Amino acid sequence: MERFSISMEEDLLGKFDNHLSGHGYSNRSEAVRDLVRKALIDEEWQSGEEVVGVITLVFDHHQRKLQDKLTELQHDHYEIIISSTHVHLDHHNCLEVIIVKGEAGSVCELANRLKATRGVKTSELTSASTGKKL
Ligand code: NI
Repeated sequence: MERFSISMEEDLLGKFDNHLSGHGYSNRSEAVRDLVRKALIDEEWQSGEEVVGVITLVFDHHQRKLQDKLTELQHDHYEIIISSTHVHLDHHNCLEVIIVKGEAGSVCELANRLKATRGVKTSELTSASTGKKL
């Protein structure tokens, strides 16, 4: 492993250290490594290359025809969906995780369309990476 030193304003370093303790890092090096990895993954997602990710939805089970709409949207994008799992959280809420792989623009389009559907309470797209650039 290579070592290098970083110069940083005291104020910014203080905020960085707060960020570290808030996220459970035991040292600055691992936090910097994760920030670099995150930047490289972001770059991969903006380059139009093939990406992998997970879309997590929580939605209202009682909203009329919502499940049908969400299924229809997924059929419109079947070529980028690897797998999906539905969990009945309680009487009112459903959780669905959708594992996606494909061109970044298509993945984001699917995630945005799902998020914009009425009755979807939360929707997150988690960007993963095969690690080619890491
Ligand atoms: Ni359900």
